[in-house]
Amino acid sequence: MTIGIIGAMREEITPLLEFYKEYERIEAAGNTFYKVNYKQVHIIIAYSKIGKVHAAITASIMIATFGCEQLIFSGVAGGLTKKLKVGDLVLATSLCQHDVDISAFGHALGFIPEGKLFYESDSKLHNLALQVAKNIGLNIYEGIVASGDQFIASQEKKDFITKEFGAVAVEMEGASVACVCDNFKIPCCIFRSISDSADGEANVSFDEFLESSAKVSANFVTKLINEIVADLS
Ligand code: ADE
Repeated sequence: MTIGIIGAMREEITPLLEFYKEYERIEAAGNTFYKVNYKQVHIIIAYSKIGKVHAAITASIMIATFGCEQLIFSGVAGGLTKKLKVGDLVLATSLCQHDVDISAFGHALGFIPEGKLFYESDSKLHNLALQVAKNIGLNIYEGIVASGDQFIASQEKKDFITKEFGAVAVEMEGASVACVCDNFKIPCCIFRSISDSADGEANVSFDEFLESSAKVSANFVTKLINEIVADLS
């Protein structure tokens, strides 16, 4: 079994590389992939660089070149609901692209013909993640995550994304990874720990909490990997 773990930024995968310690570096498609042999699985780790295009390239290479059979995204997000505080962990139930707009042709915002408005996370991985959270007594927040090539830092944009898509968190990659996985028929699961509230202070909060929140998500993903491995035997 080969599992891919993607982050968008270096800070989002550094805790994973520190945890697994030994890895091989492989260059492909303008990116560095880190191959870890862990128990009876292989893990491919990479940061894609920010945005949906970069994340889609990384996800595709992980599947098509490295043979990943499951993809997990680990990183940070802006919280759209007051219930989410910095450091809280969000598990995406489904993901959408909040910046897609071909409504001039009568399509719903976020919808691309022959694509999907919402890409679901894999139910088996999702349930396994909930089980892990329960086992370690961690409160995990489930909801729709919206992705777009924009850093959201205003109440107006927050309100739009919340009302239009019912999203609880916003980031810049998850939906593209979920879309790639849907097309390749590969299970995927997206984790995000809150770094900011996507408001006027979001840039300051992001800079302050990127590292600590990235660690929350990465730590959880290492525990999920253990559960996936245990489930194999
Ligand atoms: N990732 C973390 N915070 C974000 C925000 N406010 N907007 C988009 N992506 C984010």
